[in-house]
This record gives sequence, C-alpha cells and structure tokens, in this order.
Amino acid sequence: MDLVDLDGLSSRLNVIKTFSDMSDPEDIDALVRQLRPRLRNVIGATIGKGGEGKTTVTTNLAYVLAEAEKEKGRQGKPTKPILYIELDSNGNGRLNLGIRGSEFDDDGLGFFEALTEDKGLKVVQGVRPYLDMVVSGCHNADIPSSVTKLSDKYGITSYLLLAALLAQISHRYRWILLDFSPGDKMIQRMGLAACTHLIAPMKGSDNAVIEGLGTLATLVRQIRRLNHEVAIVSLVFLGYRRVNDQPTSQLTNLREKIGILLDRAHISREVLVSAFIRDGATTANLARNYGMPAGEFALAAAGQLLESDTGKPVDRPRDENGRYADPKRALDLAGDYISVATQVIQLVRQRNQELHGDEASHC
Ligand SMILES: Nc1ncnc2c1ncn2[C@@H]1O[C@H](COP(=O)(O)OP(=O)(O)OP(=O)(O)O)[C@@H](O)[C@H]1O
Ligand SMILES: [Mg+2]
Repeated sequence: MDLVDLDGLSSRLNVIKTFSDMSDPEDIDALVRQLRPRLRNVIGATIGKGGEGKTTVTTNLAYVLAEAEKEKGRQGKPTKPILYIELDSNGNGRLNLGIRGSEFDDDGLGFFEALTEDKGLKVVQGVRPYLDMVVSGCHNADIPSSVTKLSDKYGITSYLLLAALLAQISHRYRWILLDFSPGDKMIQRMGLAACTHLIAPMKGSDNAVIEGLGTLATLVRQIRRLNHEVAIVSLVFLGYRRVNDQPTSQLTNLREKIGILLDRAHISREVLVSAFIRDGATTANLARNYGMPAGEFALAAAGQLLESDTGKPVDRPRDENGRYADPKRALDLAGDYISVATQVIQLVRQRNQELHGDEASHC
C-alpha cells in the first residue's frame, strides 16, 4: 500500500472559470460535451435516504471488480485498477477497507484540497490488489461551503469540479466507484454530475425504499443540464431473506411494486437485477469491524486468508462473544456480491455501448 500524489493534473478551477455559465450559457454545454465521454467508467452509488448500505455495497463491489482484474492479470490479459471514492464525511469506507486510523488516513484533507484548491489528488494505491481509494473523512464536510462560494462567483459550472477532476484520471482506472449520500445538496450535485451510471442500494421496508427511489429519480432529472447521460442502471437489494436459494415474498412483492413505478416513469425493469444481497447484518457488521470486504472475510472465516508478508494464515475472525465467524454464511454473502457485481457490470457495459452508438449517430 502506498500514498500516491496524482499531480500534473491541469487546473479544474480554470476550467470552471473559463466555462462559467455567467458569461455565455452555451459554454456549459460545450464543457459537458467534452467531459462526458471520459466519465463512462464512473459508477455512482446513492439513494434518496441515508443508511441504505451505499458504503457496504460500493466497497464490496469495488473489491469484487478488483479481484476480477487480479484474475485477468493472472491470465496475462490487460488490466487496470479500480478506484473507490467516498464523498461523505462519515468516511465509513475507511472502516470497510480497514484503513481507518492508519498512516494513510488523512480524514479527507487531500481530497478536499484536490477538489477545491486544485492540488494533486492523493490516492491510496493498492488498498487491495488492483484496488485504490481516495480517503474521506471530516474534511469532506468543508467541501459544500467552498463549492457554494465558487458557485456564487461562477455559477452552476462549479458543480462540475469533481467531473473535471475525474475526467483527467479516468483513463487510469477500469472503474471508478463513487459513494455519496443525498444528505448534502452540493455533494449530491457534484456526485451526480460526475457519474454516468447509478446504482441504488435498497434495504428495509417498502415505503422507505420507494420514497428513496422517488427522490433519486427527481435528482437525476434535476442534474440533466450538467449531465444528460446519468441514469439508474441497477437497484441493489440488500438484507433480504433467501430461502432455498430463492428470494422470499418480501422481496418479490417489493420488486413488483417498484416495477409498476418504473413502468410509469418509463424506466426499464432491467434495473431490477435478479441477484441480491441476502440478509446478513451480523456477518456484515463483523466484516466491517475487521475492515474486510465480504470476499476477504469469507477467506478469513475459513482460515484461508494469508498474511501478505509472512504467508501465514490470518487468525480466524471472532464475534464479540469470542465465537468464530460462520464460514458458510460469510461465503454465501461473498457469493451474492459476485453475482450482483456481474449483473450490474453487464448492464453498465450495455449502456456504454448504447452511449457510444448515440455518439456515432450524431457524427
Ligand atoms: N447483508 C446485510 N444484511 C443486512 N444488513 C446489512 C447487510 N450488509 C450491511 N448491512 C447493514 O447496513 C447498514 C448500512 O450500512 P452502510 O454504512 O453501508 O450504509 P450507508 O448507506 O453507506 O450509510 P450512510 O448514509 O450513513 O453513509 C449497516 O448498519 C450494516 O450493518
Ligand atoms: Mg456510507
């Protein structure tokens, strides 16, 4: 693991000054047209309410995608790493990936300075093989006021700061996963302006889930001017029971209710992928406490995770009562993340092909 400064990036502040919509309203459209094709590998995870599992789902998908790159590397195929970025100031992604309080944890200061002061972007390289992350934390809470000041001066182009930053580094990464909550409008706008595909984690009761989805659909509409490409690519259901390898009526009924809403909103039911993450709060919480994604936790629970330096097996994780984590449950959960990642990425690739096609037809 290494803290790497991605410097040599050109000024994002100059970009928003140059293309400020205060002078010519067409400037902003010109900027958006330039940025969009470079952001097609940016996937955002968000939903209209907090605590839906954004961080758990995003860090786990990032890990699964990084493992897939590792496998490609073994087969001698071309590879690129995955980048995980959390915009929220709770910085819980640090817990899920086990770097909270480590020497790499700057509470989001580096990201804040890169975003609002044009500094180089600090990336923790190799959090896991083929997985990099940008650390977030309490400094992320200062982003909204800085961006508000900029938007007072330069208008809504300022919400493209993150998009302009990611457009310069996206070619280095297979996928960039953005984890952001709807809590702060400024953060939410920057996140939505930067990604092309959205996944919406959904956990819990019908009404709350449906309400959250409605809010997200509204936000997507509101960001159109800054990002005409962003769309919900997949809903990711988390924490629903699975019996005999099938979802129970709790999930099938919820899916049907959401399906009707999707029909009304002219959104394809394809977003309702069949894979889902089963109910496993105990295992998920233990994995987070150990700073491990589900796949890694499953290996540890089975006594098969090896220390990278000594090659010795890592101690098997235990719960607060000293009992070993159940390896079968851990493996099932890890398998769910692989299935979800496979289906989500398939939809993302499909959409990207359509977007490329659109481009060609405009030429
Ligand atoms: N498989 C699962 N089954 C049930 N609950 C789960 C599962 N995985 C995670 N959880 C629970 O989901 C909760 C939400 O997790 P997470 O922090 O990922 O949400 P979030 O949307 O990022 O929250 P915030 O809005 O605070 O950033 C956690 O309390 C965790 O215990
Ligand atoms: Mg979170």
